[in-house]
Amino acid sequence: MAQSTRVSILGKDTIVVGYNLVDNLVKEVLTDLPSSTYVIVTDTHLADLHLNSFVTAFASHTAATDASSSTRLLSYVVPPGEASKSRHTKAAIEDWMLEAKCTRDTVVLALGGGVIGDMVGFVAATFMRGIKIVQIPTTLLSMVDSSIGGKTAIDTPNGKNLVGAFWQPSRIFVDLAFLETLPEREFINGMAEIIKTAAFWDEKEFERLEKNVVEFTTAFKNRNAKTGHVDLSSIKQVLHDLVVGSIKVKAYVVTADEREGGLRNILNFGHSIGHAYEAILTPQILHGECVAIGMVKEAELSRYLGLLSDSAVARLTKILVAYGLPISVNDSIIRERTHNRATPVDQLIKIMAVDKKNVGSKKMIVLLTAIGKTFEPKASAVSDDAIKFILAPDALLDSAGLAKDAKIDVIPPGSKSITNRALILAALSSGVTNLYNLLRSDDTEHMMNALSNLSGANFAWKTGKSGEDVLQVSGHSGNIIASGDDIFLGNSGTSSRFLAAVVTLAKSSAKADNVVLTGNARMKQRPIGALVDALKSNGAHIDYLETVGSLPIRVEADKHLEGGRVELAATVSSQYVSALLMAAPYASSPITLALVGGKPVSQPYIDMTITMMRSFGVDVTRSKTEENTYVIPSQAYVAPAEYVIESDASSATYPLAFAAITGTTVTVPNIGSSSLQGDAKFAVDVLRPMGCEVVQTETSTTVTGPSRGTTAAGQLRSLPLVDMEPMTDAFLTASVLAAVATGTTQIIGIANQRVKECDRIAAMVHELTKFGVRARELPDGIEIEGRGSASVLQVPEDGVWTYDDHRVAMSFSLLAVVAPGKVLIKERRCVEKTWPGWWDTLNTTFKVSLAGSEHATDQQQLSIKTKQANNGRSIIVIGMRGAGKTYFGGLIAEALGLKFEDLDWSLENATGKTIAEIIKDQGWQGFRQLELDVLRQSVTDRAYGFTFACGGGIVETPEARDILTKYISDGGIVINVHRDVKLIMEYLSVDKTRPSYVDDLFSVWQRREQWYSECSNFLIYNSELENDNQITKIRKSLKATLQLITGVSTVHDDILRKQRSFFVCLTFPDVTIAMPDIDQLTQGSDLIELRVDLLQSAPNKSTPSLAYVQEQVGIIRKHTSVPILFTVRTISQGGAFPNEAVDDAIELLLGALKLGVEYLDVELNWPESVINQVVAARGFTKLIASNHDFTGSWKWDGPEWQAAWQQVESSANWADAVKFVGFANEGLDNYKLENFRSTHTSKPFIAINMGKKGQLSRVLNRLLTPVTHPLLPAKAAPGQISVDQIVQAAELIGDD
Ligand SMILES: NC(=O)c1ccc[n+]([C@@H]2O[C@H](COP(=O)([O-])OP(=O)(O)OC[C@H]3O[C@@H](n4cnc5c(N)ncnc54)[C@H](O)[C@@H]3O)[C@@H](O)[C@H]2O)c1
Ligand SMILES: [Zn+2]
Repeated sequence: MAQSTRVSILGKDTIVVGYNLVDNLVKEVLTDLPSSTYVIVTDTHLADLHLNSFVTAFASHTAATDASSSTRLLSYVVPPGEASKSRHTKAAIEDWMLEAKCTRDTVVLALGGGVIGDMVGFVAATFMRGIKIVQIPTTLLSMVDSSIGGKTAIDTPNGKNLVGAFWQPSRIFVDLAFLETLPEREFINGMAEIIKTAAFWDEKEFERLEKNVVEFTTAFKNRNAKTGHVDLSSIKQVLHDLVVGSIKVKAYVVTADEREGGLRNILNFGHSIGHAYEAILTPQILHGECVAIGMVKEAELSRYLGLLSDSAVARLTKILVAYGLPISVNDSIIRERTHNRATPVDQLIKIMAVDKKNVGSKKMIVLLTAIGKTFEPKASAVSDDAIKFILAPDALLDSAGLAKDAKIDVIPPGSKSITNRALILAALSSGVTNLYNLLRSDDTEHMMNALSNLSGANFAWKTGKSGEDVLQVSGHSGNIIASGDDIFLGNSGTSSRFLAAVVTLAKSSAKADNVVLTGNARMKQRPIGALVDALKSNGAHIDYLETVGSLPIRVEADKHLEGGRVELAATVSSQYVSALLMAAPYASSPITLALVGGKPVSQPYIDMTITMMRSFGVDVTRSKTEENTYVIPSQAYVAPAEYVIESDASSATYPLAFAAITGTTVTVPNIGSSSLQGDAKFAVDVLRPMGCEVVQTETSTTVTGPSRGTTAAGQLRSLPLVDMEPMTDAFLTASVLAAVATGTTQIIGIANQRVKECDRIAAMVHELTKFGVRARELPDGIEIEGRGSASVLQVPEDGVWTYDDHRVAMSFSLLAVVAPGKVLIKERRCVEKTWPGWWDTLNTTFKVSLAGSEHATDQQQLSIKTKQANNGRSIIVIGMRGAGKTYFGGLIAEALGLKFEDLDWSLENATGKTIAEIIKDQGWQGFRQLELDVLRQSVTDRAYGFTFACGGGIVETPEARDILTKYISDGGIVINVHRDVKLIMEYLSVDKTRPSYVDDLFSVWQRREQWYSECSNFLIYNSELENDNQITKIRKSLKATLQLITGVSTVHDDILRKQRSFFVCLTFPDVTIAMPDIDQLTQGSDLIELRVDLLQSAPNKSTPSLAYVQEQVGIIRKHTSVPILFTVRTISQGGAFPNEAVDDAIELLLGALKLGVEYLDVELNWPESVINQVVAARGFTKLIASNHDFTGSWKWDGPEWQAAWQQVESSANWADAVKFVGFANEGLDNYKLENFRSTHTSKPFIAINMGKKGQLSRVLNRLLTPVTHPLLPAKAAPGQISVDQIVQAAELIGDD
């Protein structure tokens, strides 16, 4: 067991680290710091837990000496928390000590975390001009940080730690046993400081932290159920060593530089920015948590300044996440804890300006050049501009300063496919491979973890000749050793498939005779069967542990591939082929791999594997006699010493296009004509025909853009028609070039780009338009009218929206570079998905000047399209005069905590005239102009915090309609308050104070109706309120609706958390009949299902009209606030809606989304066009993908349901929940269903059997079981039972 360790600081041996030190501590204090009075100050938490042990120890030690009569131990207990670090507490303690006649010889013991240590330290520093203090830190943070170094302080209303003193403690007792009672969050908080120290000082220590993540986090999670305490025994020694290591660094630095300045502020890594966040986010967010965010920002700053690599930043963020620390203020837990408190960049900078460590106006920040290394042996001065860029969400790009004839080399991040292959091949080789340009992503991390766990290779990061990060892989020649641990591969398909083949090489060890590969729930659904079959056919022993055909699998050790002929079905995934190819050289004899079952998919990836195997010394030959057949020799891989991972070719299009658009020369030195990546053809097939000079060798590509001459983009030529099917991801890059080329470009073959991070075709059209470029969507492409020159581009007034799509952001950053003026790219961080250092490259390599930006209106500008919450953005209400805009606008404002403003009043206030007077003086036209001005101003100047009601006629003005539709497309909310026009007329006829209309009301209504609909994205149906009860109800349901459409509804999460949830089906032609009993009907139910297909049809139609359905929803909402599930059930699925009435269905489904229903049932059998439109417009409505087998012929263990599930996982991945309804012909069908349920868990799942025999499945289904109610006339489906029946039955069978 760990002995206690002494660490010296400032030349004295005053720090003691160990376990259970209290007794020794008291003895040592009594001996070495003799006094008549000892004062122990602590907080109530610690007083309850630990004060007694001090009192006892003190009594026993003083009893043994004569001191007992003259020595006293006093204690003072303060409330826990930062609030105690105050002048008030300090004064109270001092007064109490004075009253207790404490004198200069008093020794204070500070027992607690940093709050106690700092505050009591300051008391000691000033009491009687300074008395002795002993620090007894009890939090991990205070053990490694605050108790050491002698800084003491209290907080003032002006900021934290602003008043204090340096006062060195006489002793610091770090008793690690105190950590047994420390809450988990406080432990994590302390880890931030330990990680910090390793990050700037000691890479070895950092590695140790990386290695011990699991041990630490599990130790601190496993709490005794009764006491809540942890058992530290499993980490006792490591914890001791880590804490000592961290303390030693701090003690060394403090000793080398006792006072501020110089070396000491190196300890502040992560703190300069972290403190600024802390000032805003305290007390909800803890010091260490803010420092974690600060470290990420300061590391990003180092990268931005060209000092630190991407992979070092990735390594830092990875370890912070692993220990449970936040890495951004956008982490959901931070947003939740602070209720979305904003951290405006300007405020952060202002706070940093008063940092004690600044030198003049320069901010001092510790910059890293690698993990464990700083740029200078102290903090460095950094400009505000650079800091602001790092903190701000948006980037402002400026072309001024670009070198005209620059020649630039750029290496984009590595390709994922190549990285994973390289890791396997290097591990299987004999010798050391230095891998350059490795991509760091979740997939590649899983691969590396697995290979190290199986002793397949040793990995070490080192710094290359030109400062790049190099992964040194010491291969173990295929000696894989079973470790006994399950190998977890997350959702990494490549790792799972590749490793499944590789682990057939495994040898047994003392620990295990097999290897288990497993993954997350999603991975456990993905197929691997064909590969496993092929491996088994050649001698491997493999078992499925859960679902046949998927992970987890158990691969027996010592059962290697035998060699000879192997057949593999390669029509599902080329990864199977690559996996087998790579493992094959280690089979006992050569393998002939025959790909059977048709044309293999993704041949280029197979070729990629074979080419890479050759680089590692193994030549695969293709059979000349047999199609799709390969011969792999039996032979060991040889490490090539150096292997440069080809950059990702899609990423490479950006720097190459940079050359094209700026007339400079750019070389990507590691992608050339021999590349097997489709996008590698971009330079030759797109840039060359556009007029660029392209020089491509086998391994490199150089592009020189047409000389810029007088026009900024030179003479790029359009491509009249280009099919980009072989490189769809590059179409965005081509589009921005086309925008400045001469002539019109049509790009086709890119339909898949509509379903990427966003609808990229629509996004490009929308954003190009902002630059004054005309573009149109084509069914499978885009048409762009080039402007011929960049100098005639417009500068987008409010910037480019990036749709959370890295490719949109990177491509528009190119256009921004040449546009005449500064262009704002919003939410720039989305590039992190594939090229985290893109902006840094633009800045340091391309010399594009960048500035951070965050406009008040932009700060939280979030788009509904990307499903981000509205976040207090102002809401606009439109609708006919008399529709209830003011009433509902008021309710909306009330429900969301916004201010309500009628724009008519604003107009009256601004002009000092009534509306009637304005119209009289300036005519309708003058009034409309003023009205437009007020609207325009309101949406820009008061973008947050308001609900605006517009005048009824606002939609008459085309510009106003533009403002409204743009507001929507930028993610804003415009609500149309709708009321039956007949009721409006009735209502208005009694109101004589309003100016008369020019036209008669009804024709006005007819003209505007369509406009109201086009200019709004939500609709509130104003159903006449008849009594107070309804007013109460509508308030409640309106609030729920608004929470939904603004993205803060918790309905779905609440339901998912419940043990059981239900929905009751309303099966009426008109729901009005059910309303008197609605409270009873919905009792126990979480949702009301509105069966729209059962509602009364419109005259001469077989489907209900949208207007009628809107009214029905309006009626429900004034009677109940129970959330609505909106269902249009088709005839083929057992409903009444004609399957062929597709257009009506679209109208109703989109109408439902506009009404903000909580759930929408989307039948999987709708044509794709219907589903796509619904998914695009979904907002925050939850979509339930449903399928019903009314024929009763689908079996739960048959192929149909399996196929349906696969559809959900692939093309219908939009589903928030899945509902499958089958039919039970016999009781056994329920058990088959349960088996299906238990093996299909990647989405919330409603699964039941219809029919009398299926009722058991309704009891066993726990999520949103459809129920009937005794008061309802017809059951919505055969076999439906009520909530009460289900609950009773569940009790009977003990399923609760
Ligand atoms: N002086 C310095 O150099 C320095 C350095 C870093 C931080 N700080 C200061 O330290 C303070 C934060 O200190 P902290 O993180 O230790 O928080 P803290 O002192 O507020 O303690 C955190 C919580 O844990 C409880 N607690 C402490 N030890 C416990 C234990 N062993 N078992 C159960 N509960 C326990 C406390 O009662 C408190 O509720 C801040 O004010 C910060 O400014 C000072
Ligand atoms: Zn700190």
